[in-house]
Amino acid sequence: MTDENVDLEVRLEEQEAFEPPESFVEQANVSDEGIYEEFEENWPECWERAADMLDWDEEYDNVLVDDDAPFYEWFTGGQLNASENCLDRHVEGGRGDSVAIEWEGELGETRTYTYEELLEEVDEFAATLRGLGVEEDDVVTLYMPMIPELPIAMLACARLGAPHSVVFAGFSADALATRMNSADSEYLVTCDGYYRRGDALDHIEKANEGLEGVDHEVSDVVVVDRLGDELAHSLADNQHDYDELVADHAGESVEPISRDAEDMLFLMYTSGTTGKPKGVKHTTGGYLSYAAWTSHAVLDIEPEDTYWCSADIGWITGHSYIVYGPLALGTTSVMYEGTPDYPEKDRMWELVEKNDVDIFYTAPTAIRAFMKWGTEYPQQHDLSSLRLLGTVGEPINPRAWKWYYKHIGNEECPIVDTWWQTETGGMMITTLPGIGTMKPGSAGPPLPGIDGRIVDVDGNQVESGNAGYLTVNRPWPGMLRTLYQNDDRFIEEYWSEYSDPDSDEWVYFPEDGAKIDDDGYITVLGRVDDVINVSGHRLGTMEIESAIVGVEGVAEAAVVGGDHEVKGEAVYVYAITEDGYDEGDELEERVVEGVLESIGPIAKPEEIIFTPELPKTRSGKIMRRLLEDIASGNELGNTSTLRNPEIVDDIAAQVEND
Ligand code: WTA
Repeated sequence: MTDENVDLEVRLEEQEAFEPPESFVEQANVSDEGIYEEFEENWPECWERAADMLDWDEEYDNVLVDDDAPFYEWFTGGQLNASENCLDRHVEGGRGDSVAIEWEGELGETRTYTYEELLEEVDEFAATLRGLGVEEDDVVTLYMPMIPELPIAMLACARLGAPHSVVFAGFSADALATRMNSADSEYLVTCDGYYRRGDALDHIEKANEGLEGVDHEVSDVVVVDRLGDELAHSLADNQHDYDELVADHAGESVEPISRDAEDMLFLMYTSGTTGKPKGVKHTTGGYLSYAAWTSHAVLDIEPEDTYWCSADIGWITGHSYIVYGPLALGTTSVMYEGTPDYPEKDRMWELVEKNDVDIFYTAPTAIRAFMKWGTEYPQQHDLSSLRLLGTVGEPINPRAWKWYYKHIGNEECPIVDTWWQTETGGMMITTLPGIGTMKPGSAGPPLPGIDGRIVDVDGNQVESGNAGYLTVNRPWPGMLRTLYQNDDRFIEEYWSEYSDPDSDEWVYFPEDGAKIDDDGYITVLGRVDDVINVSGHRLGTMEIESAIVGVEGVAEAAVVGGDHEVKGEAVYVYAITEDGYDEGDELEERVVEGVLESIGPIAKPEEIIFTPELPKTRSGKIMRRLLEDIASGNELGNTSTLRNPEIVDDIAAQVEND
């Protein structure tokens, strides 16, 4: 390294605030700081700006109805269709030839869909689903990897007013069954298999196994043929080949169903504190307008841009920021099937260069992996098309932020560190890229119109510089409306901690800890419930624990997150063996199998520690904090309040030796 380079590194390392480059500000969709005040002064009507991003079949009467809080309603009386907003209006507006989805297969094949072509595919698949009997409000489950038929199926469902429930393809058969059962879903769209690092994976086998666990009749299963001859499989009577079925509806179109703004657009299951995943319900008007507004204001998306979000559509990030937000704005959205290091570790940068990507949105865990692989990979490519970078999913450490800023953005692209959740539908806390000073590691202030606060246990706002709990003290259009068929759990999970129902004061609690500085910038510290964040994926420790105690030979288990250099957090399992079993009984393997079977490879334990006892308080509660500290290699605090302090050293020694 030259002296000059060393100086630069040192400067960057010490710098705590960065201004957005002038060249970016000049062209930014939002560059007037007055927007924050404008939203405050005009709340809730300010949200008309979000609604105005869409075409409505019927204008709404009210922006917000809060009579039955916290069951808020947005844009009531309005009617619209999400697929029409993502497709037809662009085609009718003369942009049918612009590219909507640029799909990059892992093995190098590509598929390009213009808006007109995508509309055709969606029309035909909507006609197909209707032909199978799918009606408005039927929940259709989509268990598919990153292939174009996934967004096509989502938009086809939206066209029919049939809510989709996408189940991440990496989830297990059991996870599929649980979600189909919870949603009473009678239709499934899936595929034969897909590629991962060049290998063909069997997916239909997993889907079929899942179907065996469904407790009601499944009318039809549509199977996309992704692998061709590579995977021989036979279809049951109620299973149909996607292409064959669609061929019967070639050239057909389906009139998009006008949905009430508050009608459900989709369900998305996510992990919570208990063992059972929560069915988060999102609506047509509020969700879509919020996804479109944040894509415009935060991601700075313009129709002529090429935009790439590297998430999987199986998670909320992909729903809002690969499919609905970008397509509502009529931009080109890149969709990549595979892994970032296949065939080489420069794959992402190769794709940025090839597609002239303007805006790139990814997760901190990916950035930490890129950092580890080294700068030579981005350096092999011309990344000068990039104008804006984003991150989502977990806290980003300042080192990773600066690496991203320098080695990917060439110090010329602002970075938006966006805090949000499955439940919020879209981004909530982040700088606006054309306005805000960026502080590495801190997401920034709440977006205009969002009342995010940091409070103590009593709900009082903390002084700047202090840590506390994040709350959202006012509703917003993209918020979840309820947990599917479980209003009570909705109130209990999100509105019971800080609300005061007697005075009709409702405060949303996202279950994250955070701190705030003098400028009102929020640094999100992580979950304060039993949810851990592994590679940006949200996992319930209780879900993993219940999978493990189901394994023969395990009496009790505690699962916690331990710090991990790349994944952020990793799964640590502490397990007590049942009498008559010991570690020699291939117990470790069976524990791993149990987790894979009930959840999937994303929850695979990093380490399994067998112990005769778990550290417990005198009242019998497992000391999870202590187990987290052991897993993270932290200094252990006072253990004298434990019933069995002697066990701690034993466990810690085991973790160290592994
Ligand atoms: C965490 C993903 C810090 C947080 C969109 C939240 C973050 C959970 C950030 C939601 C961020 C997300 N900084 N933490 N920028 N973004 N999180 O539902 O703990 O999969 O509660 O939604 O991820 O995860 P979910």
